[in-house]
Amino acid sequence: MRIDVVSIFPEYLAPLDLSLVGKARASGLLDLRVHDLRDSTTDRHRTVDDTPFGGGAGMVMRPDVWGTALDGLLGEETHLLLPTPSGELFTQRTAESLARESHLVVACGRYEGIDARVAEHYRERVRVTEISLGDYVLNGGEVAALVVVEAVARLLPGVVGNPQSLVEESHGAAGLLEYPVYTKPPAWAGLEVPDVLLSGHHARIARWRRDTALERTAARRPDLVAALPVDELDAQDLAL
Ligand code: ADE
Repeated sequence: MRIDVVSIFPEYLAPLDLSLVGKARASGLLDLRVHDLRDSTTDRHRTVDDTPFGGGAGMVMRPDVWGTALDGLLGEETHLLLPTPSGELFTQRTAESLARESHLVVACGRYEGIDARVAEHYRERVRVTEISLGDYVLNGGEVAALVVVEAVARLLPGVVGNPQSLVEESHGAAGLLEYPVYTKPPAWAGLEVPDVLLSGHHARIARWRRDTALERTAARRPDLVAALPVDELDAQDLAL
C-alpha cells in the first residue's frame, strides 16, 4: 500500500519511522511518503492560508495551494482523506476498509480548516472522505494522520507477526471491548490473577473472557452493546 501525507509540519510525522509502522516501511509493505505543503506555494513567504470570506476568527487554508499539492499526488485509485472535527467518525471499520485500498492521501489541515472547495473539487475525481477522530478539536490533522496510518498499517498482511492478535482485540470481529489481560507474576501488590486463567481449562477460560468482555463493554461502552446483533449473542451471554 502507498500512503502520502501532506502537512505544513512534515516533522510531526517523524514517529512513523518507529516501531511496527517503521518496520512495515523498511520491509516495503508500506510505501509512506510525507510532503511539505509549503513546497506547493509560489510566493516568497510560502503562504498557505488567508482570512475567511464572511468574516470570523482565524485563517483558512487556500484551495489553490492544496490544489497544486494534490494534483501532483492523486491517481485513479486514490482515496483522499481529509481529517476534520466535522468529518465522519474514524472507527476500526473505517481502518479495515481503508486497509483494502491501494493508495491513500491524507491532507492535514490546520487553522480553521481547508477551503471547502477542495473536498468538493476532488470528489469529482476520486473518493474523498472527511474523517474525525472523535468529538474534540485538535490543532490540525497531523495527529489524525498518525492515527490513520498506524490503525491501517497494522491491518496490512504481514505487518503484525501473529494475525490472531488482530482477531481478539477491542473493536475486533466480536464488536466488544477486549477482556482484561494478565501475565507473570501470578500475585502482585496483593492482587491475584483470576484462578480460571491458571486452570488450563480452555473452555472455561474462553467463557470467562467472553463474560468479562461483555461486562466491561456494558459498563464503559453501552453504545457498543446496543449495536451487537442479537444473533451473535449466545445463551449464556443473554443470561448475564
Ligand atoms: N482536526 C482537528 N480536530 C480533529 C479531529 N477531532 N479529528 C480529525 N481531525 C481533526
